[in-house]
Amino acid sequence: MGKQLLVVVFFFMSMIAFTGAESKPWKTRPVDDWRDSLVPGKEKVSHLHFYFHDTPKGRSQSSVQVAQAPVTNQSATFFGAVMMADDPLTEGPEPTSKLLGRAQGMYGSAGQKELTLLMVMAYSFTSGKYKGSSFSIMGNNPVMHPVREMPIVGGTGIFRFARGVAMAKTYIFNTTTGVAIVEYDAKILHF
Ligand SMILES: *[C@@H]1O[C@H](CO)[C@@H](O)[C@H](O)[C@H]1NC(C)=O
Ligand SMILES: *[C@@H]1O[C@H](CO)[C@@H](O)[C@H](O)[C@H]1NC(C)=O
Repeated sequence: MGKQLLVVVFFFMSMIAFTGAESKPWKTRPVDDWRDSLVPGKEKVSHLHFYFHDTPKGRSQSSVQVAQAPVTNQSATFFGAVMMADDPLTEGPEPTSKLLGRAQGMYGSAGQKELTLLMVMAYSFTSGKYKGSSFSIMGNNPVMHPVREMPIVGGTGIFRFARGVAMAKTYIFNTTTGVAIVEYDAKILHF
């Protein structure tokens, strides 16, 4: 009788364990519910406009050189130089204009014949409509061209699963200070 009771108890215990596993969904993160709510074909387009400020030296320095190749100093395009940047993004072109966020990441000279930067940067917004969201750019930036087109390859926050294009246009490049102010116009497809 004792043995039978043990079997019954064991049976019920495994039932509890089993139903427990069944009733608790494996999706426990809010992001999983969000992903399930996505409706293919229901993407939105956001249009962003801002100014990017890169200051490689001086008092308000925002980018630093982290590496270079032995040939970089002999190269007219600084081929092989790699910079790490934490550049402010503002509403207007003036450095004192309203701060919208920051572009953080790396850019490096990737062209031997033409000055082309490979940009690997996350553009995060800390104020305005896109506060708390970011998108990432990974692409070439031939800086001497009047307008450059760079791919937006993903994002976070409202830009989850984003894809798009950023057009960049130099507003000012001061050859003495190295300060570059670049106008960005981005179109982003996201849910
Ligand atoms: C390249 O030039 C910079 C600045 O003139 C200098 O500090 C650096 O030592 C040079 N590097 C090499 C590898 O020659
Ligand atoms: C570059 O910056 C320096 C120092 O701020 C300034 O004196 C100079 O006028 C600027 N040059 C141009 C072309 O804006």
